[in-house]
Amino acid sequence: MAAAPLVLGLETSCDETSAAVLRGERELLGHVILSQDVHKLYGGVVPELASRAHLRVVDDVVDGALREAGVELRDLDVFGVTAGPGLIGALLVGVTWAKAAAYATGRPLVTVHHMEAHLFAANLELPAAEPPFVALLVSGGHTLLLWVPAWGRYELLGETRDDAAGEAFDKVAKILGLGYPGGPVIERTAREGDARAHTLPRPMLAAAQRPGEDDYYDFSFSGLKTAVLNRVRELEAGGRLTDETANLAASFQAAVIDTLVAKTLRAVQATRCRRVLLGGGVAANRALRDGLAAALGNGGELFFPTARMATDNGAMVARAALFHYQQGEIAGLDATARADLAFPGLER
Ligand code: KG4
Ligand code: ZN
Repeated sequence: MAAAPLVLGLETSCDETSAAVLRGERELLGHVILSQDVHKLYGGVVPELASRAHLRVVDDVVDGALREAGVELRDLDVFGVTAGPGLIGALLVGVTWAKAAAYATGRPLVTVHHMEAHLFAANLELPAAEPPFVALLVSGGHTLLLWVPAWGRYELLGETRDDAAGEAFDKVAKILGLGYPGGPVIERTAREGDARAHTLPRPMLAAAQRPGEDDYYDFSFSGLKTAVLNRVRELEAGGRLTDETANLAASFQAAVIDTLVAKTLRAVQATRCRRVLLGGGVAANRALRDGLAAALGNGGELFFPTARMATDNGAMVARAALFHYQQGEIAGLDATARADLAFPGLER
């Protein structure tokens, strides 16, 4: 039997520069993730600064992953890279790097969709995280509810109409003066608060919604963010914001989680599949994982990546690249990055 391919996964779509060396499906030999701190100064990702930071460190990040793996560039069998969606300047750094490496070594290039890579993250650590499953992908840029009968076959059930779930965490953290990125700090702050302290809307969630109606599975988080903003203004005027920050963080987090869990459960009922896979940066949220596990109950199975694999990383890119390589989907050297790359194999 031929040895399992050695795949490089390169991720530069947003504010993490990351490279991984993966042998076969889950032997992670080297993995470096460098998060760009510079964006903390601005309370969000500044695209031009992200591109420049990727350019500065991409060589060292790949070198670090190769060194950890004990291999050299010429030992690699496949170059996998995120080609979109994401920030165009940031994506171009990774795609150009991978194209140059593929050309120099004569090895195949495989381009990967960032959200499909998130779908593969749990599988790196859990062999059982295989389709069929209902997938909830929640990141800073996307919120997708999918039915996945097999790898490469994706049915879109619902998506956000406005802000992504992670984006809502980031914006609410900014409103509460908690810093960037918002998810981890809201989760920490929420632990000190009471989720029942403030009544906030459960966006686009109503008992009267029926299958077949668009809003049955879709999400919307921008109204919730505005509701938090209005509450913050009232509290500030009364000089009570500091006392209420933890309660507000907890109430906000509960509203997001209730909505995500309820819509995921609708998908479970419709597909009669009690296997659920969670992916994307927000999958690092423990309250979300616990809420989903409780809602699924004993008859269900929940798969989620560890926190390091949930947020952006090169390992998930390598894992998704391996799948497409095995399908014979090799990109040409005319491949390019696309900020709005379409999800491969997605049916609406
Ligand atoms: O997948 P990801 O690393 O990057 C994108 O593809 O966007 O996701 C980043 C998002 C950010 O919005 C961040 O606030 C959120 O994931 N996030 C979390 C947590 N950790 C990261 N949200 C909620 N709870 C967390 N613990
Ligand atoms: Zn991501």
